[in-house]
Amino acid sequence: MKMGLMLLKLIIVCLLWVNLGLSHRPLGGEQPLSNINILSTSLALHPHASINASPVLLGLKGEDTEWVDVKLWSPNPSSDDWIGVFSPAKFKYDLLLIWPYSLYRLACGSSSSCYSEADVKDQQPYICSAPIKVLIIMEAVHAQVNLHVCKHHQFWLHQDWKATLRFQLINQRADFSFALFSGGLSNPTLVAVSHSISFANPKAPLYPRLALGKSRDEITVTWTSGYSIDEAVPLVEWGFPDSIPKQAPAGTLTFTRNTLCGAPARTVGWRDPGFIHTSFLKDLWPNRPYMYRLGHLLSNGSYVWSKKYTFKAPPYPGQDSLQRVIVFGDMGKAERDGSNEYSNYQPGSLNTTDQLIKDINDIDIVFHIGDITYANGYLSQWDQFTSQVEPIASAVPYMIASGNHERDWPNSGSFYDGVDSGGECGVLAQTMFYVPIENRDKFWYKADYGMFRFCIADTEHDWREGTEQYKFIEHCLSTVDRQKQPWLIFAAHRVLGYSSDKWYGLEGSFEEPMGREGLQKLWQRYKVDMAFYGHVHNYERSCPIYQNQCVTSEKSYYSGTVNGTIHVVAGGGGSHLSEFGQLNTKWSLHKDFDHGFVKLTAFNHSSLLFEYKKSRDGNVYDSFTISRDYRDVLACIPDGCEPTTSAS
Ligand SMILES: *[C@@H]1O[C@H](CO)[C@@H](O)[C@H](O)[C@H]1NC(C)=O
Ligand SMILES: *[C@@H]1O[C@H](CO)[C@@H](O)[C@H](O)[C@H]1NC(C)=O
Ligand SMILES: *[C@@H]1O[C@H](CO)[C@@H](O)[C@H](O)[C@H]1NC(C)=O
Ligand SMILES: *[C@@H]1O[C@H](CO)[C@@H](O)[C@H](O)[C@H]1NC(C)=O
Ligand SMILES: [Fe+2]
Repeated sequence: MKMGLMLLKLIIVCLLWVNLGLSHRPLGGEQPLSNINILSTSLALHPHASINASPVLLGLKGEDTEWVDVKLWSPNPSSDDWIGVFSPAKFKYDLLLIWPYSLYRLACGSSSSCYSEADVKDQQPYICSAPIKVLIIMEAVHAQVNLHVCKHHQFWLHQDWKATLRFQLINQRADFSFALFSGGLSNPTLVAVSHSISFANPKAPLYPRLALGKSRDEITVTWTSGYSIDEAVPLVEWGFPDSIPKQAPAGTLTFTRNTLCGAPARTVGWRDPGFIHTSFLKDLWPNRPYMYRLGHLLSNGSYVWSKKYTFKAPPYPGQDSLQRVIVFGDMGKAERDGSNEYSNYQPGSLNTTDQLIKDINDIDIVFHIGDITYANGYLSQWDQFTSQVEPIASAVPYMIASGNHERDWPNSGSFYDGVDSGGECGVLAQTMFYVPIENRDKFWYKADYGMFRFCIADTEHDWREGTEQYKFIEHCLSTVDRQKQPWLIFAAHRVLGYSSDKWYGLEGSFEEPMGREGLQKLWQRYKVDMAFYGHVHNYERSCPIYQNQCVTSEKSYYSGTVNGTIHVVAGGGGSHLSEFGQLNTKWSLHKDFDHGFVKLTAFNHSSLLFEYKKSRDGNVYDSFTISRDYRDVLACIPDGCEPTTSAS
């Protein structure tokens, strides 16, 4: 009887919560944290409301991520209540807490007092900064609209109006607190704040990401820690498994608020980036497996170590061995605990990540060609991204290209004047990830990997004929020895080649304006096999194209002369999907309105397999092979050979 009554109460409570309704907000396109009007927060602490998080100390066994139970009691819940996770946890206005009944407009509620250049040093109050995560409680309920909600592990309500939610936290160099707000995201009113919780060692070295170095026998390891070089010496301990390891030094970078270009990166989105270290592991033996771990040597002589990781050294350029490459763009990040719009900002991101992790033993290198995190100036999101891809980036080189969401900012030298980087103007991408170039703002580079050469362009800087970048592209394409590296790949973020994207279609050109004008002749002259793009969030593959025409009607098996370049849009890495236009062009062979990525497998110098896999199941939905001998690359095509003479 008692049980029955409780169950009834439970169901009524759940229904009440579910029926409070869901304030409708558009999905996709906006960084979820940017919807919070945090600077106009007012204070209405309620004596009977509470929010508590446990455990209090995380990472006791060296974990860099943990799930936290957050128990919430709200005497008058409303449909737009939300929880913000703040880090650092410190609340500048602690003093106000002794007046729980008063309503305060927080002193920090004007941007001038939050971000005056003068006292940047003691800018610690969380209420001047966006939370690192946000969860609208009703959205959590709605995502599982049925009564099982009550028993679901992520959310349930007790008869006494308590809710428990689970959050996943990652070690981000500072402590955390949880705050309950009413008034929705636009008019936040702080109702309750939790105690702070933290990781046992918030400074721990974390989230290693590998990249190819500038020379063929080098791998770089980049990671993030809370240790400045005055406090500890950063290093990587590495070597063959089961042999005596050696130590390699690391360089350290960081930046300040003033390094960034504008808001929100300089204001509510700012968060201390910690220290970003890069070590150069040299003289690698091709294809050999290596073990490594990240370390910091403290001044008292003791070491702080990360866990151990392994990688396989890159093949010698031209080397004949199995080589498997992943290409995609626009993946972004999402939260496994359902925070930040229940993954609706980049809905395919976790599926893509999970498929790559599943396949990691059959992957040798990854190219994420722009639009990396969509942090858009909310710096905390970069830690969360590097944590999400850690199982991939710690095991194989994770090579990035620059996209509009990394670089674009008005009056900052970007080719486009948009605000897509949220004020980051490239600083985050160029510091958090290593790329083998001198000046990382000029984000174009060459990467040799066994039988492949990749020429990575930067669409956020001018690429047209006559520019510094155009010269680089020509140099990269022209200097490869195709007998040794037959597979020549061009990649860039925006579609410089061909795409049936709705917007590009409306312009009638099926490309980024001015995209292929000058490049087409380079692709042709240097017999580029394939060109990859992101930016458009879907999948599309063209026939081999020369001057806007298909050079063959073949769809799945290519052999003989390289007289056209196959253009591939692989921008469905995770962000909300882009619609195709109505028009069906001759050159478009396969379109897919879904999330996915491309895998290239070079078996040897004459055989290459192309596969498009969906992120939802990892299965192949489009594929073709190229089979070709060296003489087919040498064979003369229009533009593709020097003039000859028959004189003898
Ligand atoms: C060195 O300093 C660290 C951090 O202060 C401390 O945890 C560690 O126990 C010290 N080690 C020794 C050998 O004193
Ligand atoms: C391109 O190469 C294919 C295969 O070698 C050949 O059949 C075709 O005629 C060529 N097209 C042009 C335009 O050269
Ligand atoms: C290259 O690899 C393909 C696919 O495995 C195989 O069929 C072919 O015989 C190989 N060619 C050479 C020259 O080894
Ligand atoms: C992610 O994968 C799951 C499992 O296949 C699927 O049900 C879900 O729809 C996928 N999500 C997206 C956004 O494609
Ligand atoms: Fe983009």
